[in-house]
Amino acid sequence: MTNEAEKYPDLTSKSAELTQRAKLVYPGGTTRGQTYYAPYPSYFKNASGCHVFDVDGIKRVDYVNNYTVQFSGHSHPKIVSAVQAQAALGMCTTMPSESDLELAEKIIQRAESFEQIRFTNTGTEAVMHAIKGARAYTGRSKIAKCEGVYHGAYDYAEVSLDPNPQLWGQDRPKSVGHTRGVPNGVLNDVIILPFNDVAVSKAILEENADEIAGILFDVIPSRCGGIPATPEYIRMLKQFSTSKNVILIQDEVVSWRVDYGGAQTLYGVDPDVSTLGKVIGGGLPIGVIAGRKEFMQVFDSSCGKAACSHSGTFTANPLSMAAGLAAMELLTKDAIARLNSLGERARAYIQEAFNLADVNGQVTGEGSLILIHFSSDPLGDYRSTWRAHTDLPGKMLDELFRGLLNRGVYFSTWGLGCLSTPMGEPEIDHLADSVLATLNIMKDKNLMEGAS
Ligand SMILES: Cc1ncc(COP(=O)(O)O)c(C=O)c1O
Repeated sequence: MTNEAEKYPDLTSKSAELTQRAKLVYPGGTTRGQTYYAPYPSYFKNASGCHVFDVDGIKRVDYVNNYTVQFSGHSHPKIVSAVQAQAALGMCTTMPSESDLELAEKIIQRAESFEQIRFTNTGTEAVMHAIKGARAYTGRSKIAKCEGVYHGAYDYAEVSLDPNPQLWGQDRPKSVGHTRGVPNGVLNDVIILPFNDVAVSKAILEENADEIAGILFDVIPSRCGGIPATPEYIRMLKQFSTSKNVILIQDEVVSWRVDYGGAQTLYGVDPDVSTLGKVIGGGLPIGVIAGRKEFMQVFDSSCGKAACSHSGTFTANPLSMAAGLAAMELLTKDAIARLNSLGERARAYIQEAFNLADVNGQVTGEGSLILIHFSSDPLGDYRSTWRAHTDLPGKMLDELFRGLLNRGVYFSTWGLGCLSTPMGEPEIDHLADSVLATLNIMKDKNLMEGAS
């Protein structure tokens, strides 16, 4: 056990107690994979603005924001009062409401490709319905996606999410099941592309052109280093999808926070359909499928059976709609621009901390998204990022996470962080100081011996 890990149990006895209870009812002591870290996670008590408080009374600045959900921080008064007002009026019925219509109208104004939308409950569901819609629209069964990129928990979207080098294949990425027992049919129907490699991706797409329904694409995938796709790559995907009548699905569940019209506006992607979630719901569950009217007609069930059925008991539930409406009003051009420039400051200051501590590392990301890597090697696809986050670099990230946790900073164990609007320069300075202090201790303890 390292220095930083040793401090943790002294400070978190209540979380330790709750973990004992949790181990009885949850496999692995947690109801959600991503929230676990050894020896046990800090339990949530309350949150406000950019701070989270745990049950042991420790206050931390929250840079995880439930994996990029909270754009305006926790419990923003406008979102809280909108949710309270709606809860008093009723929480869910089978009837459509004016609030879902209003939120849909607001979202549609944001990007040129959003001509019509449908709500879902999560980003995973939005991706699943976009894929099913692409199949129904084209009558083809295959989808293409980039190696290592996360698009939620639908088993087709999970193919080749995290293959290790033994499964990488010789020259072209292979379709690898994320879990044991994934049906061969799923693997056969998902074609894997190397992110940002125009020539190889184009060749793979051309070979399978007659069978591909859609390309599932994230323009800044965190598992490819948080480095955006090149204009050439984006152009190639667009040209291919247009010429072969393939549906280009842009996953904006995370990337939408980087620009008023999402990453598609920033990078000029022009998808047929997009999937959104996270920030749109202001902290409540939500997902969105937004696309060209011609494509979105696959979900039209007004004249009988839709080409692609889409339903869900809690879809467009009034509470998420109320929170979403308030959240969208806070997601202004000015707020995004201010947070993006704070993001630049954060990336620059953390990089400076690595330089001052004389530790190999780099900080990437876009807008208010930050990714820390314990490697100076060039990044830009899944394989380079895998190397920068596995073995010793992975342990370094874990140690950094613990050092930050002990200094009042809640970052993710994977080096991914994001900002929220209650933050200002003092929080960013504190973050960079905490990174520097942790790196210096790690160096003194020789914890990075052998790091590249
Ligand atoms: C890019 C991307 N797509 C889809 C999803 C799935 O969203 P949800 O967790 O709301 O199901 C996520 C979740 O982190 C994501 O990062």
